[in-house]
Amino acid sequence: MQIREILWASDGSNESRGALRWGELLAKRLGSKVVAFTVLETPNLSNLAVAEDLKRELTAIETKTRQRETKRIERIKELLLRKGFNAETEIATGIPHEEILKVAQSRPVDLVVMGRRGLNAWARMLLGSTTAKVLREVHVPVLTVRQSAGKPTVKDILVPTDFARSDAAALDWAMGLAGEFGAAVTLLHIFEAHKSWDSVKGGSMGRLRDAATKKLQSIIAAIPNEKRKGIVITENVKVFPRPWSGIVDFARKRKVDIIVMSTHGRKGVPRFFLGSAAESVIKNAPCPVIAVKR
Ligand SMILES: Nc1ncnc2c1ncn2[C@@H]1O[C@H](COP(=O)(O)OP(=O)(O)OP(=O)(O)O)[C@@H](O)[C@H]1O
Ligand SMILES: [Mg+2]
Repeated sequence: MQIREILWASDGSNESRGALRWGELLAKRLGSKVVAFTVLETPNLSNLAVAEDLKRELTAIETKTRQRETKRIERIKELLLRKGFNAETEIATGIPHEEILKVAQSRPVDLVVMGRRGLNAWARMLLGSTTAKVLREVHVPVLTVRQSAGKPTVKDILVPTDFARSDAAALDWAMGLAGEFGAAVTLLHIFEAHKSWDSVKGGSMGRLRDAATKKLQSIIAAIPNEKRKGIVITENVKVFPRPWSGIVDFARKRKVDIIVMSTHGRKGVPRFFLGSAAESVIKNAPCPVIAVKR
């Protein structure tokens, strides 16, 4: 598996710092370059009649912010270099998600790493708007990390699937990671238990689960041998009211280290929207999530 550059988007928040620790884990194993990136958000005054003295004041603040942020990001780079990483910095000015997308495109970035939330985090908000927008539009996988995620380690990887063809890319990524880290992979399908399913007989439910299990087994059997390389892969089927809640519950109970999933499932049609299961899993998962574009 090759990850040439890991783009670490940093707004100086604890969340994004936590994300860097996961970025480091991957970079170390895969020999990736870490690009420490920050976007300076400056107020847009172009449509305002602002007096000269006020303009000067704002410019002075901007200069100070730029110096402070440059210092911060350069210091992190120095720390990374000292730890033996290949590291670089990038600083842009503008709207964070737009700039993150631009750099991800202009450099050989194979993974974006960011906090699930950032500096503005209100207690109730589970997913920051920058992260949400990057997830919607980015062309490479994105690793989102919540602050309370444990010590970075990749031993157990969870790959949820609703049998969409697009899930192949996520499984591929998970297998690559598993090969690098000697991790185990669990393929999980959640049966969405509709209200009307209350009347499904116990025996029929069992048969449905068997069918899903068979399907998962056939997906596993189709993985080429050179990718299997001794990786332990198991399958699991659960019934839950919503797919995302089943995935999150499984991740919590089994203490999986990381979830790798497709941004869109079977139902996801519009190109620029994040599938609802992916979004809810990212918001609620106890562990980091790698969202892989279909
Ligand atoms: N200016 C920025 N430069 C670089 N990365 C950023 C910047 N702002 C946000 N990020 C990245 O996005 C992650 C989530 O931050 P985000 O801005 O989405 O959430 P927030 O600050 O909590 O909420 P808000 O949507 O109100 O800004 C951060 O952890 C960081 O990785
Ligand atoms: Mg923010």
